[in-house]
Amino acid sequence: MTTDQEQPRGFLVVFEGIDGTGKTTQADLLARSVANEGHPVIRSREPTTGTYGQQLRDSASSGRRSPEQELDLFMRDRAQHVAEVLAPALAAGKVVILDRYYLSTAAYQGARGIDPEKILQANEAFAPIPDQVFLLELDPVAGRRRIHDRGDGDGDLFEGEEELHKVARAFAQLDRAYIARLDGTQSVADLHDAIIEILENNLRWPGRRRV
Ligand code: TYD
Repeated sequence: MTTDQEQPRGFLVVFEGIDGTGKTTQADLLARSVANEGHPVIRSREPTTGTYGQQLRDSASSGRRSPEQELDLFMRDRAQHVAEVLAPALAAGKVVILDRYYLSTAAYQGARGIDPEKILQANEAFAPIPDQVFLLELDPVAGRRRIHDRGDGDGDLFEGEEELHKVARAFAQLDRAYIARLDGTQSVADLHDAIIEILENNLRWPGRRRV
């Protein structure tokens, strides 16, 4: 098999960051504008609604597992997601837009003491590498306030306040060329414009402006 055949032909965009940063809003907006341009697009998220994703959600209310058990479940959930959804969509040339992916594992399970670089490498060994990650940055307290204001309780399943600061720091330290860090305090429209501009400068972006 040649390297070309191993490379997915589609384009993988991922939104990352702590909860309340605007990931879902921006992912939805982007999906709409990509579809309007006539590109086939799919939206998905992790954890998924499959068996392992459900076990993870249950564990948030019934008591957290050990960091290793949690890592194992997120990896299983992702392996299933890759096999059933992501790899086929990318192979079919689709633009895939995700809320959370393996940078969340590096930040959240990294914040619990597992080496983030090892987590990244373990994922990069089997999961398609994103063409572009948007890491939306926001002060954890402001993120919490947004979640509270939109009536979603007190925030992420796995995030107490102290933990949330650790996760934000872990996200801040991740180092990959495909990460663009964006200020999550910007307006929805400004953030969307910044996202489109970055994508249009990405050599692999199918909607790239030809100048
Ligand atoms: P979240 O995006 O809040 O999912 P949903 O809104 O669908 O319930 O993610 C759930 C929690 O899982 C959140 O606290 C982040 C955490 N998480 C990890 O700890 N590791 C991971 O690899 C992923 C994908 C998420």
